[in-house]
Amino acid sequence: VTGAVGPLNPTIPGYDFGSPSSAQSPISLEDLANLEQTLGWTGEDEQRLRKHIELFRSQAERMVDTWRAVIAAQPHLWQWFAGPDGKPDDTYKAAVKRRFVQWVVDVATRPHDQAWLNYQEEIGLRHTPEKKNKTDGRHTPAYVPLRYLLAFLPVVTNVQQFFDPAIADPEDRTALERSWTKAVHLHITLWSRPYTREGLF
Ligand code: HEM
Repeated sequence: VTGAVGPLNPTIPGYDFGSPSSAQSPISLEDLANLEQTLGWTGEDEQRLRKHIELFRSQAERMVDTWRAVIAAQPHLWQWFAGPDGKPDDTYKAAVKRRFVQWVVDVATRPHDQAWLNYQEEIGLRHTPEKKNKTDGRHTPAYVPLRYLLAFLPVVTNVQQFFDPAIADPEDRTALERSWTKAVHLHITLWSRPYTREGLF
């Protein structure tokens, strides 16, 4: 599969973007367009993120490490990464981290097409009992409660710190953070679908 950002990265285990192993989204592209309109997501946001792709590439790991530190500091959060012995499963954390870093780059580059929509369903499922642990064959708790996905949004959208000093103009930094925030909000909205009662999403 090729797209605006070139071929898939096949070197990340379990990264099934655009692959037949990915779930299929039950959401139509029309529903998606309505959600985007509701969020105020426009082509300008898409272009702004893509324009700064090198910045996201260079900062992605730092971003993920920063967010991981927030999780590591709170036992009620890191418990979702703990193995049967109650300790953080480092093999799991390392495997998930590579896909999380790739996700940052994907948010900034991937067009919101059917393959993208399908992978959002997949990532949502990977936080729920249907697919959590399955990709990496681990034995951590069966799901991450939806309330923590939602509550984590302000953490993952507080990103201006990563744009400084690469983007000198504060207005440009704010605009980029705003586009990133809308994109992440859209992702989490789509990931919430597998958590909802049939017909209520
Ligand atoms: C804004 C909130 C969040 C974002 C953007 C996010 C993002 C991601 C991404 C990109 C992945 C990898 C998807 C893939 O396999 O390609 C992932 C997996 C995972 N996330 Fe989250 N996440 C969020 C909230 C949380 C929270 C609050 C927790 C728990 C403290 C959590 C725990 C996990 C776990 C355990 C996995 C691995 C699931 C598996 O077994 O495949 N996530 N997340």
